[in-house]
Amino acid sequence: MKIGIIGGSGLYSVEAFNYIGEEKIETDYGESSAAFKIYEYSDNRYYFLARHGINHEFPPHLVNYRANIAAFKRAGVDAILSFAAVGGINEDLNPGDIVISDNAIDFTSGRNHTFATMGNIHHIDITEPFCPELRKAVKESCASSGLNFSDKDVYICTNGPRMETAAEIKAFKKLGADIVGMTLFPECSLAREAEICYVNISVVANYAASISRNKLTADEVVETVKRSEDKLKRIILNIDTNAVENRKCDCRNALENTRISKNK
Ligand code: HPA
Repeated sequence: MKIGIIGGSGLYSVEAFNYIGEEKIETDYGESSAAFKIYEYSDNRYYFLARHGINHEFPPHLVNYRANIAAFKRAGVDAILSFAAVGGINEDLNPGDIVISDNAIDFTSGRNHTFATMGNIHHIDITEPFCPELRKAVKESCASSGLNFSDKDVYICTNGPRMETAAEIKAFKKLGADIVGMTLFPECSLAREAEICYVNISVVANYAASISRNKLTADEVVETVKRSEDKLKRIILNIDTNAVENRKCDCRNALENTRISKNK
């Protein structure tokens, strides 16, 4: 099967696999952040996309999320493992921890956040923003790789690229957020609109603002993810792709009965 992988800050390739080559895919929404790097491993193909571009040129608010998801769709990928670096709000979390997010809050604005157009409107259900079956497969992969993880956490997505104020983090905590990042939305909701299964695997890169006693730096974020790279590769390597292939979730029928426009 074809599995999509989105790499965030600090994860720009998955060299553990057999590298096949690159593929750039045209979309109706412009260019994806980079060409896909395609890998092969035991009969499966892995389509890797560096969310921020190979030289990390796209800040979170300027990533062309629609082109990225549309490119996966065109490539025939219907399951995406999406990796991200986040700040830890919940004080039980420490840098290097792996979080398989359970739910999410969208605090972004001004991003091209939907494929819906005039006359073609779907109100998709996103009660559970992450595919339950992919989450299960990722959790099982962590367990069989001997990795600790947390799976009860809520990801709050800010617009960035700035970090948060101390008061924002305090407010986010009251809202029920455990981790904070800048890239989950609209990536996850576009995947649902495209009927692609999607799971978020976050690496806590730093304590969030005011929880950390130090100035937050991009170096800290990238270095922590780099140190976790081996764990992330093990998660990908040990995923039970048969279970993923046979999943019975609703994600791939997400548009069913959601169209509200009358003229199409
Ligand atoms: N805030 C927002 N995004 C982030 C952080 C953070 O502290 N760390 C990594 N991505």
